Amino acid sequence: MTALADRAKGLADRAPDPGEHYRSSLHDTRVAAALGTALGVTFTVCFATGLISHVIQNPVGWFTWPSRPAGLYRFTQGVHVATGMASIPLVVAKLWVVAPRFWARPAVRSAAHGVERLLLFPLVGGAVFLLVSGTLNTFKWYPWAFFFPHAHYWAAWIMIGGLIAHIGAKAALTWRSLRRGDPTGGELADRASGSERRWFLGSVAAGAGALTVATVGQTFHPLRGVSVLAPRDPDVGPQGIPINRTARSARVTQEMADAWTLRVTGRVDRELELTLADLQALPQHQATLPIACVEGWSASATWRGVRLRDLLELAGAQPGQHLRLQSLQARSLYRSSPVAPNVAADRDTLLALELNGEPLALDHGYPCRLIAPNRPGVLQTKWVNRVQVG
Ligand code: HEM
Repeated sequence: MTALADRAKGLADRAPDPGEHYRSSLHDTRVAAALGTALGVTFTVCFATGLISHVIQNPVGWFTWPSRPAGLYRFTQGVHVATGMASIPLVVAKLWVVAPRFWARPAVRSAAHGVERLLLFPLVGGAVFLLVSGTLNTFKWYPWAFFFPHAHYWAAWIMIGGLIAHIGAKAALTWRSLRRGDPTGGELADRASGSERRWFLGSVAAGAGALTVATVGQTFHPLRGVSVLAPRDPDVGPQGIPINRTARSARVTQEMADAWTLRVTGRVDRELELTLADLQALPQHQATLPIACVEGWSASATWRGVRLRDLLELAGAQPGQHLRLQSLQARSLYRSSPVAPNVAADRDTLLALELNGEPLALDHGYPCRLIAPNRPGVLQTKWVNRVQVG
């Protein structure tokens, strides 16, 4: 050993070890492994369901999202938010359990160990960012300058890269310590007794369960009475259905809606321009469909209006074409939405004029809005004034 290395070792030996202050026996490899396994499940499910929501909103050629079952997106997005919520206590507990590791010296023992530890930054940073930004999003609170969907999406990829690397590094240890109760190779002390471990993990599971039950009622209606922390009540809103964007915030006025007509343009035999009376004179169809929001809330309603496919037939559009529906609202990312051929062909895809037996409220898109099965709420375009074919 060189004189310099000797001196560094001497200093390290004398330096106080902050890790010593962690006296709880629960800073234990088997506890870390159990929490890690639970996080592996919740984050993987959350990532997969988030990816589904992303590709539905940003269509790619190789993927067609079916229009049935009608409530599938409601389910996947409800699961996305629920697994994200359940992950909050799990991440807090996991970071607390492994906290002594943050002070371990030497911080890096080899090149491989250095890479493993470096990849903890995207894992821990990404996980915390996703959980905080996702939770604030469910409350529609955006105390930041970035565009939430892009930041959340890219952070998810960064986090999942870190998670895959972490699983690669810890899989064997996790397997050994959970299956055989042998934490050899773990860097935490192995001091917790079986009952301590069960008590702690049970409490964390109860916390995760309680948080899930306290919020999931915004989409799972049987639990809405006990979901005291749910950001949305699915029964509260104009005509008993919540809304995210009011007509006022979309700058749509009653005068604009009264002067409204609907145009069908593009690759059609006959371009159409229809008034509300014209639409009301066409065959009306009724469907009970959910509005399922990306923020995790959802609510079912009975909608009545003209089938989109009937309108396309009237205009002489060839079946199988992609559409874009446009809205009266000015300057908004969601002022238009793509409609894939399978959605346009569905019997329940409507240009709705009524909600729960009444004309649509202005906030719900009066005089005419899209409602289609198995589709995120942001794509259920309100105040539709143009159907562009092809
Ligand atoms: C969001 C998910 C996760 C986060 C934030 C997280 C965080 C951490 C951190 C910061 C450490 C300390 C590492 C060090 O200082 O070198 C650690 C250790 C560990 N993690 Fe994870 N982890 C997660 C998921 C997982 C998963 C999915 C597994 C299971 C494969 C797992 C199993 C372990 C194990 C066994 C240890 C080592 C405990 C020891 O050395 O005694 N973790 N985790």
